[in-house]
Amino acid sequence: MQLQAFVALLSLLGAANATQDRHVRLGKRQNAGAVVGSSSTSQSSGLPTTTSFTSSATSISNSPVPTTPVGTTIPPLANITSGMATPSTVPVTATYSAGSTPLISGAPVLPTPFVFQAASWPTQDQIAPSDSVEVSQWMEELTGFNIPDISPTADGTCVGDPVAASQAASRGWWTCGGYTRATDITSCPTKMTWGVSFDDGPGFYTQELLNYLASKNLTSTFFVIGSRIVERPQVLVEEYMAGHEIAVHTWSHRPLTMLTTAQVVAELGWARKAIKDVIGVTPTLMRPPFGDIDDRVRAISLAMGMVPVIWTSTGTGATFDTNDWKVPGGVVTGPQSFATFEAILGNATMLNTGFVVLEHDLYPQTVDLAIGYTLPAAMNFTPSLTLDSIGHCNGIPSTNLYRESNTNTSFPYANSTSGDSSVPSGSGGNGGSSTTTSGALSNAIMPISMIVASLLAAGGSLLM
Ligand SMILES: *[C@@H]1O[C@H](CO)[C@@H](O)[C@H](O)[C@H]1NC(C)=O
Ligand SMILES: *[C@@H]1O[C@H](CO)[C@@H](O)[C@H](O)[C@H]1NC(C)=O
Ligand SMILES: *[C@@H]1O[C@H](CO)[C@@H](O)[C@H](O)[C@H]1NC(C)=O
Ligand SMILES: *[C@@H]1O[C@H](CO)[C@@H](O)[C@H](O)[C@H]1NC(C)=O
Ligand SMILES: *[C@@H]1O[C@H](CO)[C@@H](O)[C@H](O)[C@H]1NC(C)=O
Repeated sequence: MQLQAFVALLSLLGAANATQDRHVRLGKRQNAGAVVGSSSTSQSSGLPTTTSFTSSATSISNSPVPTTPVGTTIPPLANITSGMATPSTVPVTATYSAGSTPLISGAPVLPTPFVFQAASWPTQDQIAPSDSVEVSQWMEELTGFNIPDISPTADGTCVGDPVAASQAASRGWWTCGGYTRATDITSCPTKMTWGVSFDDGPGFYTQELLNYLASKNLTSTFFVIGSRIVERPQVLVEEYMAGHEIAVHTWSHRPLTMLTTAQVVAELGWARKAIKDVIGVTPTLMRPPFGDIDDRVRAISLAMGMVPVIWTSTGTGATFDTNDWKVPGGVVTGPQSFATFEAILGNATMLNTGFVVLEHDLYPQTVDLAIGYTLPAAMNFTPSLTLDSIGHCNGIPSTNLYRESNTNTSFPYANSTSGDSSVPSGSGGNGGSSTTTSGALSNAIMPISMIVASLLAAGGSLLM
């Protein structure tokens, strides 16, 4: 066990390192307008950049490998790996000027183009500090709301905090056991409807995805990160103006349950501000990074006017995570991620409702998987699927997705813990305590120091 854990540690360090290298390369390739912040910090070298790591949580099916889509630059599925050649990026297609009218009725016109001034923002990819004038103001939004007195978890993982994990039911902690509340959005209500979303952008390859979605008349929900928005504001404008839904995915992508209440407010507040500064509106939906939410984080989010959105759990412990985010780091391969997606579609046919799936637009591998494989597979699926954005499939009028155009005083809901809790049977959540801490481990946005801390917390039980 010790040896296996050590091998895994090396693999994940290598994975994170490789991804950081890619950021550096891309940063240089990208035109001068792009600001590459602290994500380009180089880390220690000499660790392996390829790995034979296999996770028991990864399902490898025998389904036939699809052929390469014709007439595209998408590589064959087998070539979508951590080491694949990075494709060139496509330029933004439209340039919307200040004063342009958005598609959302009642929303303000587009503001003056955003100019990033680092001194006015928290350090990119670091937990947003809580000792600022802005955060003090945002803290006032919690006044009058009952924020449960739940202690922060050690690191947002089950194995990292056994005491909190043992209280997961009363905490409503999704990560350990898949606990949700009536106020969470976790699916689309209509059977055979997929609420499509992409997380962690805007990225270098998002525009390519936007072009594809437009060509298929598809809309998606984008859960965007503040640290990425300030780098590529024009891509966020494109998403919004093309009719996609924009929702908050925090400033630095940390597990929110491990943060203090003021830090959670800071993480949500700075991402919300970045969105508002770039497109002029304030989202009413958010997604917690790694799905890591409990009743305290829910209450904070709802008090700040944002309804939590996670992805679907089947009730058998599986969640609808394609694991696409593990491909850039070499933890799973493109074919393995696609096999997981096929299993998700198979499982979706057995649900009484529609569903929501976790996918990402930050990396070339994840965008290639979406454009070349998962979206086409869903559109060709039998029985036929409806692809929709998450707010729309839930019947939320587009005006209500943003504070400035929302006219419904009972949305977002005021209260997080009233109403029924819904708890899937078995251990759901993002890598329940019986599996790995995958949810919080290998996402490349997490700094290596945190990955190491998580691994050390996981100890010898890793890979069991
Ligand atoms: C896919 O990978 C194979 C084997 O490495 C390589 O020969 C081929 O050129 C690659 N194809 C594309 C389109 O990248
Ligand atoms: C939350 O719900 C409880 C019980 O339903 C209620 O007493 C309380 O006033 C609600 N709080 C808010 C802020 O709506
Ligand atoms: C998309 O919608 C437009 C207008 O409704 C229609 O003309 C076009 O054929 C549609 N394209 C596809 C690929 O469905
Ligand atoms: C699909 O359902 C099967 C059977 O319940 C389960 O073992 C598997 O993990 C599920 N896979 C996904 C990706 O949901
Ligand atoms: C307002 O939002 C609530 C909660 O989503 C919903 O039940 C209600 O139907 C909405 N009212 C209107 C007028 O849209």
